[in-house]
Amino acid sequence: MFSIAIDGPAGAGKSSVAKEAAKALGFVYVDTGALYRAVALYMLRHGITPSDAEAVEAALPAVTVDLRYEPDGQHVLLCGEDVSDAIRMPEVSTAASDCSAVPAVRKFLFSLQTGMAERYDVLMDGRDIGTVVLPNAQVKIFLTASAEERARRRCRQLKEKGVEADYEKTLREIRERDEQDMNRETAPLKPAEDSVLLDTSELDFRGSVEKLLEIVRERM
Ligand code: DC
Repeated sequence: MFSIAIDGPAGAGKSSVAKEAAKALGFVYVDTGALYRAVALYMLRHGITPSDAEAVEAALPAVTVDLRYEPDGQHVLLCGEDVSDAIRMPEVSTAASDCSAVPAVRKFLFSLQTGMAERYDVLMDGRDIGTVVLPNAQVKIFLTASAEERARRRCRQLKEKGVEADYEKTLREIRERDEQDMNRETAPLKPAEDSVLLDTSELDFRGSVEKLLEIVRERM
């Protein structure tokens, strides 16, 4: 099996770029952020504070998270319910960042991710894919963009979904989440030593996909 690991901060356009590149390559696209979001949604729905590591860990045995693939792509199931849309709300983003700092949550989602890579050629995106989940991935890319550019893109995305978004607030949230994701003790966000840096600040969507494919094809 061939694995491509794509890591990078929130809102760098990782998922849309990765999804498109996976399609071009005929690989299964695995968005691992969606798994953390599903766990976070469970906690929010059950009144559990996502930053309360002990309470989150205690709740995990009741949680099941699965992935299903349909013609429109990856769907995430939380205890059998398709929560693919529900996990995209802004409050779930913050909760997912909190939950993802809990070691038990990372352990809980680990085998689901490695299992996918054992069965399929995958293009997997997340924060610790090249460093922890798939350290032997044949290609590792660290995809990023400036915080300002990421905030602009996130606002545009939310507006397209009919959700009102405030740029300053979004920028602040992105910075906070970067800070939290990069400084946590367990599996912090950082480029794998053998990763290729892809900065998309100056690239549009097509340009980012082309660049990513170029990096992959050079190594295939
Ligand atoms: O990529 P995203 O915004 O959907 O991710 C949601 C949160 O999950 C993000 O704050 C970081 C965390 N995450 C993680 O810790 N490890 C991953 N492999 C993917 C996401």
